[in-house]
Amino acid sequence: MLSNRHILILSTAVLLLANAATEQGAALAQSIPSLKDAFKKDFGIGTALNNAQIEERDPQTTAFIARQFNMATPENIMKSALIHPKWDTYNFEMADKLVEFGKKHNIKINGHTLIWHSQLPPFIRGIHSADSIRAFFTDHIKTVAGRYDGKVLSWDVVNEALNEDGTMRKSVFLQYLGEDFVTEAFRLAQQAAPKTELYYNDYNNEQPAKRAGCIALLKKVKDAGVRIDGVGIQGHWHLGKVPLKDIEESINQYAALGLKVMFTELDIEVLPRNFQGADVGQRMTANEQSNPYTAALPDSVQQQLAADYEALFKLFLKHKDKITRVTFWGVNDGDSWLNNWPIRGRTSYPLLFDRNNQPKPAFERVIALKK
Ligand code: XIL
Repeated sequence: MLSNRHILILSTAVLLLANAATEQGAALAQSIPSLKDAFKKDFGIGTALNNAQIEERDPQTTAFIARQFNMATPENIMKSALIHPKWDTYNFEMADKLVEFGKKHNIKINGHTLIWHSQLPPFIRGIHSADSIRAFFTDHIKTVAGRYDGKVLSWDVVNEALNEDGTMRKSVFLQYLGEDFVTEAFRLAQQAAPKTELYYNDYNNEQPAKRAGCIALLKKVKDAGVRIDGVGIQGHWHLGKVPLKDIEESINQYAALGLKVMFTELDIEVLPRNFQGADVGQRMTANEQSNPYTAALPDSVQQQLAADYEALFKLFLKHKDKITRVTFWGVNDGDSWLNNWPIRGRTSYPLLFDRNNQPKPAFERVIALKK
């Protein structure tokens, strides 16, 4: 039997060891070069943040984020389902915490997102009149954009309004409010948030057909005399298939409209998938081949990922005069939504840091571009 004294000695030892490990971890994290510092003169470096990170549940993670990133986008908490759960109820608790997190750690916040067909509050399904949809739309933008004006740098005012062929997606907003809903969203956001930058955000809008539709949409907002400051290309791409030519063409064409260009949700999928893009409603059924790297990432894949990221950042640097921000969709591989989409419970490796926040070869190659 252990005496009280033994227990005390043991628990002190455990505490000391844990502290040493924490300090060692912190020191190690500090020895890794900082992305935000390396690209300071070029563009902002952002990450998506989840609840645990915003609440600073792990001090080492907080320190790591503050060292690597100077911009952040909430992965979920500002989406309408979470911030506006009932018709006349808003829940600002986590969003307010995010704003505080940004202030404390010198990280600029991009609000994500005001108007999106996905992750809508459940009460929307019970609405079948244009007047009620308009009332929701107007109140939501005024209330949320208004509250955070001067507190966030920017908003993704509208997210994913387009189909792959460049036509408008048949969302509840298109159905009830018509094609002008995008312009109207920006008009309301401009009124509610005069100090906030306003962006349109989408995936695959570097692909020629969708890009053409996107340019027409952006022009329409501008031609109405409504303010729009930038366009986000999400950047959910695939290993060995990053469309560099289309990306470059898009940077040039969007910038020619006088808009800031951003890469807003960057990750490179290494797992098998039978479709491109990032439609969160699209799912795949698992089979024996769909989760091949549960133990580790094979070196050949790791090297291809490094080459892809290097080529991408080379291109970003070439156009740094037009690009204001590059945001990764997650801090490390363990955080990535790609572990659960479009198939739940896979092991993916799409980012620059591994599950222990250790830099991967892709990180080294990206950093080396600035040496
Ligand atoms: C994803 C989040 O990462 C997940 O946690 C959530 O379950 C679904 O949404 N395009 C977007 C993001 O604009 O908001 C999505 O984020 C990924 C695709």
